[in-house]
Amino acid sequence: MTDQTQPTTPLLAGKTLLITGALDEQSIAWHVAKTAHHWGARIILTNTALAARMGKVRQLAEQLNAPFIPADLTRDEDVHNLLQQAMEHARGPLNGILHSVAMSMNIRKKREYPQIDYNFYQKTLEISAISLHRLLQHAWQLDALAEGAAVLTLTYIAAQRVFPKYNDMADAKALLESIVRNFGYWYGKRKQVRILAINQSPTWTTAGSSVPGFREFFTIAERLSPLGNASAQDCANLCVLLFSDLAAKLTMQTIHHDGGFTAMGISPDLLELLKPELFSETHNPSSA
Ligand SMILES: NC(=O)c1ccc[n+]([C@@H]2O[C@H](COP(=O)([O-])OP(=O)(O)OC[C@H]3O[C@@H](n4cnc5c(N)ncnc54)[C@H](O)[C@@H]3O)[C@@H](O)[C@H]2O)c1
Repeated sequence: MTDQTQPTTPLLAGKTLLITGALDEQSIAWHVAKTAHHWGARIILTNTALAARMGKVRQLAEQLNAPFIPADLTRDEDVHNLLQQAMEHARGPLNGILHSVAMSMNIRKKREYPQIDYNFYQKTLEISAISLHRLLQHAWQLDALAEGAAVLTLTYIAAQRVFPKYNDMADAKALLESIVRNFGYWYGKRKQVRILAINQSPTWTTAGSSVPGFREFFTIAERLSPLGNASAQDCANLCVLLFSDLAAKLTMQTIHHDGGFTAMGISPDLLELLKPELFSETHNPSSA
C-alpha cells in the first residue's frame, strides 16, 4: 500500500537504460526512449553507424541529452565497447536494456521461405535473435546489469503461429523467445535480472512495413483484436511499466501486447472484410 501523503517520484527515477534500435520517429525504440525519459530515466542510445547516418538517432540523443554510442550488435568488440562505455556514462551497471533490432535480407530480396538464401538466413538470425544473446553474454562478463534490472525485446506472434510472409523472421523470433527464457533463468538466479519479450501488434515502422503484405497484416489484426492494434506509444508505455520495480517478479515470458489478437478466433469485424460470395447460400464449400 503506498503512502498517499508522500509526493510521488517518477516511476523510472534513478534508472539508466540502454536503448537500441531507434532509427526515426516511427521506431518503437524511439517512443520507448522518449517515454522512459519522461518517466525519469536517464537514456543511453545506440544503433549502427550506418543507421546513425541514414536516420535521426543523433537528433533524439540531443533532445534527451543522451549519449549516443555506435555499435553493430552482431560484432563482439562493438558490443563489449558499447557496454563498457554505457557503464562509464551510467557510473555503474545499467538498470535496463531495450533490444529492438531486426532485419531479414531474405524479406528484402523477396526470397520466400522455401527458397531462402542461407547466408541471408544466418544474418537474419545473427541480427534479430543472437544479438540479444550477445548483449546478455557481454553484460554477464562485464557485470553490466544492476540487481533487478530488466531486459526487454520485441517479438511477433509469427514466432508461435504461421504467417507465411513473415519468412525467416519467424524462425528468428522463435529463437529470440527461447533466449528470453533461457538467459532469463541464468540472469534471474544471478542478479534477479528479468528478461521479457513483448509480442507487439503490427506497427508502421521501417522494419514492420518491409514485410510483404504488411497493410493486410495491420488491417486484419486491427479488425480481429477487441482493443484494436497496440501502437508504438502503447508499447512504450508498457515498457515503462516493465522496466519499473512494479514488475519485479515478471520474467522469462512473451507478453502478448496486441489488443487481444492472439486469443481471438474470428470476429464479425473481420468477416466484413472477407468476400461476401463465400458466405452466400448458393456457395457450397464442400464442392469447391
Ligand atoms: N513494426 C512491427 O510491426 C513490429 C511488430 C512486432 C515486433 N517488432 C519488432 O520491433 C523491433 C524494432 O523494430 P521497429 O518496428 O521499431 O523497426 P525499425 O526499423 O525502426 O527498427 C529496427 C532497428 O534495428 C536496427 N538494426 C538493424 N541491424 C542492426 C545491427 N546489426 N546492430 C544494431 N542495430 C541494428 C536498425 O538500425 C533499426 O534501428 C524489431 O525487433 C521488430 O521485429 C516490430
